[in-house]
Amino acid sequence: MIRDEAIDPAPLHHKSVAIIGFGNQGRAQALNLRDSGVVVRIGLRPGSPRAAEVRAEGFDVLTPGEAAEPADLVMLLAPDERLASIYDELLPSLAPGAAIGFSHGLAIHFGLIRPRHDLDVVMVAPKGPGTALRSLYEAGKGMVALAAVSQDASGHAWQLALAYARAIGCGRAGVIRSTFEEECVADLFNEQAVVWGAVPAILQAGFDTLVAAGVQPEVAYLECVSELKLLAELVEARGLAGTAEAISNTAELGALLGGERLVNSRLKAEMSAVLEEIQAGRFARQLSDEANADYPRLRAARNQARKTSLEQARKALLGDA
Ligand SMILES: NC(=O)c1ccc[n+]([C@@H]2O[C@H](COP(=O)([O-])OP(=O)(O)OC[C@H]3O[C@@H](n4cnc5c(N)ncnc54)[C@H](OP(=O)(O)O)[C@@H]3O)[C@@H](O)[C@H]2O)c1
Repeated sequence: MIRDEAIDPAPLHHKSVAIIGFGNQGRAQALNLRDSGVVVRIGLRPGSPRAAEVRAEGFDVLTPGEAAEPADLVMLLAPDERLASIYDELLPSLAPGAAIGFSHGLAIHFGLIRPRHDLDVVMVAPKGPGTALRSLYEAGKGMVALAAVSQDASGHAWQLALAYARAIGCGRAGVIRSTFEEECVADLFNEQAVVWGAVPAILQAGFDTLVAAGVQPEVAYLECVSELKLLAELVEARGLAGTAEAISNTAELGALLGGERLVNSRLKAEMSAVLEEIQAGRFARQLSDEANADYPRLRAARNQARKTSLEQARKALLGDA
């Protein structure tokens, strides 16, 4: 873990940073950078619905090219599957010897972008959403980040990545030196096979199993979905071992028996298969295909998810919140 005390902020002194995109990460990183004294320029595509929000935060609204032209570091903070076309459009505006930066390794690791040889290419990937990156910074805290360099044209790219991590507040929590490959593969694996892929799917399957057996949907929701927050808070505060100690003997023994039964060798083999496919670039291709076809799978899944009996149970319990 590299923390603020070991990070020299000087590589960003008297430098300007262009942030391309003002979404989850773009907004948070831009505000944190500015509060750390860094000159920030925001680049938005013409007609962006976020232009008013950018102005309301006190920034000028520039095109990506206008923002990038005078910048020493251009952070590409738009959806990963769009970054290659954004980079192609920006290329004439990138000053010789400038740096480009990412918050996820996919576009570089899977070769969607092949950067010009005079550019430094860095990554600072906060390990959490932009809203938390911002609120932690405002509270005087920070979020852990992975940082990496994939092209060091200047010889100073690593120092720049660290100074950037510090300016967005990540040095307060700690920065881990990584690679674009490691960050990208581990992040995609978690998204597909652990927290964002497996957990919601198992909540849904558990809910469906109870409801099919005649349990009221609201009761099934309380048991299978609502308690996730308690688990997350316990794991955060006490770790996995501490969590097992914090629950009743009934829950602890049940968790032991059920966990062994469900997370079996078949599931582990499937996890390894998911990992191998990610490493081979299959998912990166699927993401590009999905974007090129204007997101048919994502649109259908979002529509479907709103109509499930699990969502109806949630509304019955919580209203439309
Ligand atoms: N979500 C997270 O909190 C999180 C966490 C860690 C790392 N990351 C990484 O951070 C990066 C940004 O992700 P994000 O979730 O912050 O993205 P996001 O919120 O989806 O980004 C939205 C912004 O990107 C702009 N944009 C979309 N397509 C564009 C295009 N073709 N040209 C120019 N701008 C375009 C949008 O423009 P409009 O304003 O015109 O709509 C908007 O300003 C990704 O590499 C992601 O993997 C994200």
